[in-house]
Amino acid sequence: MTMCPEIEKVDRGAIETVSSIPPSPVVLVAVGEEEKDIIAVGMFNIFSFRPPIVGIGVTASRHSYKLLEECQDFSVNIPGKELLKKVLLCGSKSGRNVDKFKECGLTPVKGKRIWSMKVGECILNVECKKLESFEKGDHIWFLGQVVHGDVAIDYDQAKALMYRDGEFWALGESLRAP
Ligand SMILES: Cc1cc2nc3c(=O)[nH]c(=O)nc-3n(C[C@H](O)[C@H](O)[C@H](O)COP(=O)(O)O)c2cc1C
Repeated sequence: MTMCPEIEKVDRGAIETVSSIPPSPVVLVAVGEEEKDIIAVGMFNIFSFRPPIVGIGVTASRHSYKLLEECQDFSVNIPGKELLKKVLLCGSKSGRNVDKFKECGLTPVKGKRIWSMKVGECILNVECKKLESFEKGDHIWFLGQVVHGDVAIDYDQAKALMYRDGEFWALGESLRAP
């Protein structure tokens, strides 16, 4: 095996270090049926594959937090790059004052196995039943068991919108293991 050169480094503060971790997908979380809201969420993670469990981190001051507390389920929707402006709107306006589906021109779609709505314009809809929530630092994490998914016929992961610390990214090329 050929050796790779050790990389020269400089010190970095703890918070800056976390912000330097490469981007992950930003998602649109939809929660509720009659009273519903959409929120842009960068704090998204896969917690388990078997069973499939995902988690979203939401701050308690959000209107969607109240709905996430009240509802038994939510949907995680993966926006394509072309939805960047709508993601920014969902991530700046509050559902307390506006219907974000209407405001952003996004289509609420009924869940197949959940009560909460999904976002019709997203390339992947993930239906989640709420399992538990816990507070960790500045976010409350809601874990959901994935019970159903709807995927675009021409689904391509490379179309997803990546995000970290105020900056959006597009995915690069897929690398095959040598
Ligand atoms: C790209 C992006 C990512 C965001 N990620 C999160 C997040 O992970 N958790 C969170 O609580 N808020 C996050 N926000 C902020 C909320 O989306 C924003 O405060 C929103 O207006 C809350 O809406 P609501 O009051 O209807 O819940 C993010 C905003 C943007 C633009």
